[in-house]
Order: sequence, then C-alpha cells, then structure tokens
Amino acid sequence: MSTMKAVIPAAGLGTRFLPATKAMPKEMLPVVDKPAIQYVVEEAVAAGIHDVLVIIGRNKNAISDHFDAVPELEVRLQEKGDHGRLARVMKSSELADIHFVRQGEPKGLGHAVLRARTHVGDSSFAVLLGDDLVDERDPLLTEMIAAHERTGAAVVALMPVDPRQIHLYGVADVAPGERDGAVRVRGLVEKPSAEEAPSDLAIIGRYVLPAAVFDVLEQTAPGKGGEIQLTDALQQLATDPDGPGVVGVVFHGRRYDTGDRADYIKAIVQLAVDREDLGAELRPWLRDFASDL
Ligand code: UTP
Repeated sequence: MSTMKAVIPAAGLGTRFLPATKAMPKEMLPVVDKPAIQYVVEEAVAAGIHDVLVIIGRNKNAISDHFDAVPELEVRLQEKGDHGRLARVMKSSELADIHFVRQGEPKGLGHAVLRARTHVGDSSFAVLLGDDLVDERDPLLTEMIAAHERTGAAVVALMPVDPRQIHLYGVADVAPGERDGAVRVRGLVEKPSAEEAPSDLAIIGRYVLPAAVFDVLEQTAPGKGGEIQLTDALQQLATDPDGPGVVGVVFHGRRYDTGDRADYIKAIVQLAVDREDLGAELRPWLRDFASDL
C-alpha cells in the first residue's frame, strides 16, 4: 500500500451537461450503475492509494453522501437476503479513507488543486479528474507513479487526439518522434488552436505531482477563460532548468470524458456490453440497432 494521497477535483460547474448538472454534480452521473466518481476512487485504490481528498463545490453534497454508509438501506437489504446489492452498496463507503474540502468558487483546476495543499503537505500526490474515466483494464496511474518515482518529475498522462478536438485540451510540446512510454515534456499550452498546438498529445485527467507545484500555483495568474490553470503551473515546471521538470506517459488505452455528452454515452455502452450481467442482453440488441442506422 502506498502512502501517496490522491486528490479528485470535482467542483467544476459542468456546463457542457446542463441542465442535468443544474442541481447534480456531473461526477455523480451514473455510468451503468455507479456514479463516475466511484470508478475514479476505485482506480486510485487499485494503484495502491487509500487516502483520497475530493474537492467539492456548490451542490456537491451528493458526492459526500454517496461515500457515507446508509444503515437503514443496509438493514433492509440484509433482511431481504439481497447480499449482492448489499455488498455493492457497502463498497462505496468502505473503499478508502475519503476526505472533502470545498473550493468555494470554481476558479479553475489549478485553484482546485491548490485547495489540497494543507491535506497533502510536502509529499508528492496524484490528481485524478472526477469526470474522467480510465478503463480499469488499462492501468495508467501505476505507470505514472513509477515514472515519478524514477525521475522525481511532475508526470502528466498524454493521449493522441484528433486535431479537431485539440482546442479542448492542454497540449504537450515533446521532441519529434517521442510517442511511447515516458517522454520529456518541453512545454505545455492550454487549449491551443489546431495551428498553435505543439503536438497532437493532449493532457488527460491524470497527474502525479511533486509538492513543489503548490508554490508555483500560488503564483499562477488566471489564464485561459480567466481560470487558474494547472497547465500554466506545469508549463512553469517544464521550463524551469533548476526544477524537477515534466514527463508525459503516453496512453493508448480506453478513456472517457464523462463531462462530454457523446463520450459519456460511449462509456456507458462500452462498459455495459463488457459486463457479465448485462452484455448478453445488450450485444444482440446493439447489433440490431446499429444495422438500422
Ligand atoms: P472541466 O473543465 O471538465 O470542468 O474540469 P467544468 O468546468 O465543470 O466543465 P464544463 O466545461 O463547464 O462542462 C475538469 C475537472 O476539474 C474540476 C471539474 O469538476 C472536473 O472534474 N474543476 C474544474 C474543479 O474542481 N474546479 C474548477 O474550478 C474547475
């Protein structure tokens, strides 16, 4: 078991998913039968992390409620002898040591991460975005933690994306031809146009960061969209010759941005057809459905 802590920012407004996210956080949208954020906590636990800090905002009480025990529900399921559901209900409250801190105002991902400073202290930590799912069959975080332990650098997860989508991401400047494993990141640009993008390698929602990032974030002025951007702080680390630098782990596995409506639907379909209890019913239906499109 690792002593590393995980930070899950989940205080964004989720405007791409309105009106569903008017009163409910996007991190609580169900992906098959679990809220997105539970997959993210399970991923941290699978990488050996047991201390998780969730950054919450307005309307986010549903998140803390989800990780609490519900004794009356447990008693009822026990009485009914529904042990399968009982185990699934109890799992979310027994997964990890989960803490919460409020962001106050959603002033950007960098600002959200800075709210973790007191809890994290002087150690390196992992950041997992609460609406970004990485398939458990494609372990990424473990590889990123190993890259951090090897290099001491800030580690970001990178994924090749279509030029038409690149303006939605932070994008890494890496040496030409560097596409696999851990690559040195020379610089980062937040949400560039396709022409300005230094590569097609976009940052996806996983980071392993040294505590030095907090000092940089304290000094980071609002950037794109008037928000304090984590990418801008990482750009500082990447270009500081005396600092630990930034390394990218290039990921080619399955990943879903559940804050995006189309990706959310893809996540549900992909995970449901692979499930033992649902796949047999869904696969033939999907084939039929697709043949009529
Ligand atoms: P996004 O940019 O996807 O979140 O941030 P958003 O602003 O809620 O989304 P849209 O674009 O309006 O739909 C990535 C992650 O960072 C968190 C979000 O909750 C999400 O998990 N975040 C973002 C914060 O915690 N605080 C912020 O101020 C901004």
